[in-house]
Amino acid sequence: MDRRTLLTRIVAGFSAVALAGFSVPFLRSLLPSFDQDISLDVDVSDLDSGEVRTVRWLGRNVLVIRRSRALEAELLELQDPDSENSAQPEFAANAIRARRPDHLVVYSNCTHLGCEVEVLTENGFEGFSCPCHRSRFDTAGRVEKGSAAKRNLEVPDYEYIARSVIRLRKV
Ligand code: FES
Repeated sequence: MDRRTLLTRIVAGFSAVALAGFSVPFLRSLLPSFDQDISLDVDVSDLDSGEVRTVRWLGRNVLVIRRSRALEAELLELQDPDSENSAQPEFAANAIRARRPDHLVVYSNCTHLGCEVEVLTENGFEGFSCPCHRSRFDTAGRVEKGSAAKRNLEVPDYEYIARSVIRLRKV
């Protein structure tokens, strides 16, 4: 190989490396970002006692229910009354399964086979029933004993960013 060919190849090699170096940031900017904000703010200021709001979030329905002050979790025989074996953030591992007693926030999927549960509101908010195999859940989304479902309704992660605004968030 003569000197001229060698120099041409060295220059071409450096040019290729430089081009690749400049291209990486550009190509990376075209890729979707995986740490983008996927939270959703839900204004519940107009939600009356016993009312339900359904919001679509990350491909699933989330139910936000305004519980009346007088509403106590019913004295039902429950599968997991202390919610120890349930999908929920740490703050919901309590009797009300929520950050505050006045709102319940749960995914609408039954924990048996995933059917959409119905909210029972004949005499105010009374809990949930699944149309598929009749599992029943109380006003904290806790499943009654004898139901096909064995786990309480799943609670998404959320926080209050204002008195009446709930932010659903993905951790
Ligand atoms: S899917 Fe709800 S009880 Fe079976």
